[in-house]
Parts: sequence; C-alpha cells; structure tokens
Amino acid sequence: MSDVDSLIGQLQSLEQQALEAVGAASDPAALEAVRIEFLGRKEGRISGVLRGLGSMSAEERPRVGAEANRVKEVLESSLEARIEALNAQVSTGASGVDLTLPGRGQWRGGLHPISQVMDEIWQVFQAMGFSRARGPEVESEWYNFEALNTPLDHPAADEQDTLYLRDGFLLRSHTSPVQVRTMQAHAPPIRVLAPGWVYRRDTYDATHTPAFAQIEGLVIDEGVSFIDLRATLAEFARRFWGPGTRVRFRPSFFPFTEPSVEVDVKRTLTGPDGEERETDWLEIMGAGMVDPAVLEAAGLDSERYTGFAFGMGPGRIAMLRYGVDDLRTFFDNDMRFLARYQDD
Ligand code: PHE
Repeated sequence: MSDVDSLIGQLQSLEQQALEAVGAASDPAALEAVRIEFLGRKEGRISGVLRGLGSMSAEERPRVGAEANRVKEVLESSLEARIEALNAQVSTGASGVDLTLPGRGQWRGGLHPISQVMDEIWQVFQAMGFSRARGPEVESEWYNFEALNTPLDHPAADEQDTLYLRDGFLLRSHTSPVQVRTMQAHAPPIRVLAPGWVYRRDTYDATHTPAFAQIEGLVIDEGVSFIDLRATLAEFARRFWGPGTRVRFRPSFFPFTEPSVEVDVKRTLTGPDGEERETDWLEIMGAGMVDPAVLEAAGLDSERYTGFAFGMGPGRIAMLRYGVDDLRTFFDNDMRFLARYQDD
C-alpha cells in the first residue's frame, strides 16, 4: 500500500470514528469536545494526519488534500446538524413548546398618567391621616354655588362657564360641593380628600379641557388655624415633590374661603450633568380657611369649628411632572404617548 493510500485510509477511519462520536454526544459541550478532538487546528487528529503530507510528491499531495477536505466538510456538517437537533430538543422539551421563541409582548394596560398622579397625591394625604370622600358629578345649584357662599349671579355661576342641566341641576364645576356634603354627613373632626371629575364650558385648548380632574381637601375641627393649613400643604408639597421643595402662599380670593391663597412651589431639579437648578414658581392649588357662611350652610356651628380647604388640578400637576406643555395630548388616546408613562 502506498503512503497515499495509507493516509487516505487513516482519514476515512477517523471520519468513521468522528461520526460515531458526534452521534454519541448528548449536549453542546460534548459536541465541542468532539470538534476539537478531530478538527482542532493544532492538536486535532485530522491535522495530525495531514502532517504526513510534507514528505509527499507534488502529484500525491492533492489527492490526500482533497480527501482531507471532504472528511472535514462531512464532519462539520454533521456537527452542525447535531447541534441543531440538540437545540430543538432543549427548546421544545417534552411539552413541544418552543422556549426559545421571543415573547409576544402582551401589554397588560396601565393607569393613565393623570390617574397615576391622582393616586400618588392620594397616597401622600392618606399617610397624613386623610380619608376619602366623594360626591355626585350631577350637582344642584345649591351645593355647587349657594352653599359655598357663591350667589347665583356670581360670574362662576354664569351659563358661559357652567354646564347646566334641567331644574337647578348642573355638572359640578368643581369638587368643592363635596365639602358641604361631607360636613352634612359627618361630625368633626373631618380630614378628607375628594378626588373627582368636574366640568366647565371651556374651549378645548392647550391648558383647558371641558372635563378635568380636581382633588379637594377639607379639614374641620375645633381650633384649626391658618398655621395648620400652611404646615399641611407645605408637608404635602415636600412629600410629593421632594424635601428641597419651597412653598409660597399668595393672597387670593374664593367666595368659600376667607382668607384665600394660591399655593406655589419651587422645585430643585438635578440635571443630567449633576447641576442643581431651581424651577420657576409653579402654581399648584387654591386654598383658604373655610368661610363661616359655608360652615353654617352645612349645619356646623361656626363659633365652635374652623377649618381649611384646598383644591388642585392633577392634570396641571401631571403636565408639570412630565414636562408636557399641551394638556390635550393626555386626552388624544394616542397609545404611543400614553405607553411612555407606564412602569413596564
Ligand atoms: N374650587 C376652587 C376651584 O375650582 C379651588 C379651591 C378649593 C379653592 C378649595 C379654595 C378652597 O378653583
């Protein structure tokens, strides 16, 4: 037998052994070991056989080389086929479910950004001892205006501003009527938060929607003072926006509170560069000491009880929080916009 035939014989016997080893390998690591044993560039057994090529003549060499290449190709494709077969076993397992398929990304849905803000505000006040109150969206003129010390000839009660229904009923234009209903239903001490939807005849624009959310707060007891109002609202602001938040009270007017204030906050934000920056003063709510006329209308003794009330717009607070400058984007129901405000 010539040297060439002997080398070709060795190659074919290696091919046989290697194919058996591939068939016997039961996991990717074992297959890799087989690949290295036979095809490894330095230590591989096929390379070892080819080292004998050096002593051959120029006519003999190509025959051995061609056979070596054939054996390598056969081995490589058998390794590949075996890897695929093993992977298929791993991923489908006994159940036949392919565990390697990418997930389908089922979206569970989530809370609207304004609802998220309302929930967080509620959580802050709940931690401060407030409970929840509610009232109807269809209100009477008496609860919405008169009991709140607002005569029906007041501009707020004008048909230009308020959506009237029949017979002295309307869609409530603020959550303040819940103050009156709560005082009628519960004896002091009262400490409630009343989130809800309210309605006004506003033109739909960047800062107005005809239906919007409000959150009303009411605290009534003996000896409640303006200091309590300031401390409670400043504490809320710091818990909601962070301990560095500054709070400012500006004199204002509401028919149902006396004195009345607007509350502004100034926040300290840390930029991407780590620099701290203060925002402008941002108006976040109206508030005041409950007018004695309102206490009396609700049946409470205004000599004995005092209290404070506040009202804020979560839509506005959501705009500030998320840097949105057009309120309408919250109501366009564009999922690409809304989905950005979900946790997952
Ligand atoms: N009801 C007022 C409004 O809608 C807000 C407010 C509530 C002000 C309670 C003072 C006290 O603008």
